[in-house]
Amino acid sequence: MIIVNDIEELLKESKKLKGSVGFVPTMGALHKGHLTLIQKARVDNDIVIVSIFVNPTQFLEGEDLDAYPRKEEADSKICKLAGVDILFMPSVEMMYNSDELSITAPAIRGFILEGTKRAGHFDGMLQIVMKLLNLISYNKPSSFRAYFGKKDAQQLVLIQQMVRDYFLNVEIVPCDIVRDRDGLALSSRNVYLSKDERGRALSLSRSLKSATDMILKKEFNVEKIKKEMLLSLKDVDVEYVELVNRQFQPIQRVELGNTIILVAVSVGKTRLIDNLWI
Ligand code: PAF
Repeated sequence: MIIVNDIEELLKESKKLKGSVGFVPTMGALHKGHLTLIQKARVDNDIVIVSIFVNPTQFLEGEDLDAYPRKEEADSKICKLAGVDILFMPSVEMMYNSDELSITAPAIRGFILEGTKRAGHFDGMLQIVMKLLNLISYNKPSSFRAYFGKKDAQQLVLIQQMVRDYFLNVEIVPCDIVRDRDGLALSSRNVYLSKDERGRALSLSRSLKSATDMILKKEFNVEKIKKEMLLSLKDVDVEYVELVNRQFQPIQRVELGNTIILVAVSVGKTRLIDNLWI
């Protein structure tokens, strides 16, 4: 595995490698969820490239940019063991210019749910993903796939839209959420949770399970499902519980194969999201 911190070096090294490229963009503090993306990229492609970049433009004022876990050494080991070919870890100065052209997320998918609470987050996220996709595919690989987890459902849908709207030559591969044995969806932010908070955080997956149970019993009324989910979430601060279709439009009734159930809460100071694709 080659570690590169420089854009020129990235382009030089990626030019030497021939075949299909699988790309996994991350902000580091890698966990089993990331590893699953890397392993899938490894199986599907000749070359695997991972980026680690804590992107400042997707953090809002007062969010955890400075506190965000940074574990470069451990992350490099994980990537090496997982058979990554190139690990790209650029600096902020390298990725951004002072007079940047910016991308704005569309109102429908960009400013609801995560977008209302984190205005500007998706703009910064799309901006960096666009840059990374362009850089990693710069040498025109025979095919180019990028892997994203379904846990950040709204992020995934917006990236798919950006690929469509800007004619980007990449296949976006959505990957299932990876959970701990107790049901908590893996996230780099789980390290912030105390023992007690972690226990309370399990209510997210419990609420999704209660929704599934209702749907299995053919209860498709969204209001009734939300009400039931909220009962499981009484020990956490609920930000939203929503059911949307795959285009992220709110729905009244569950449509099998076209529904995402989303939940966002705070447990102590930690904000957690989870979801289920039905
Ligand atoms: O999901 C993430 O870790 C980040 O939003 C991403 C896609 C790497 C962009 O910074």
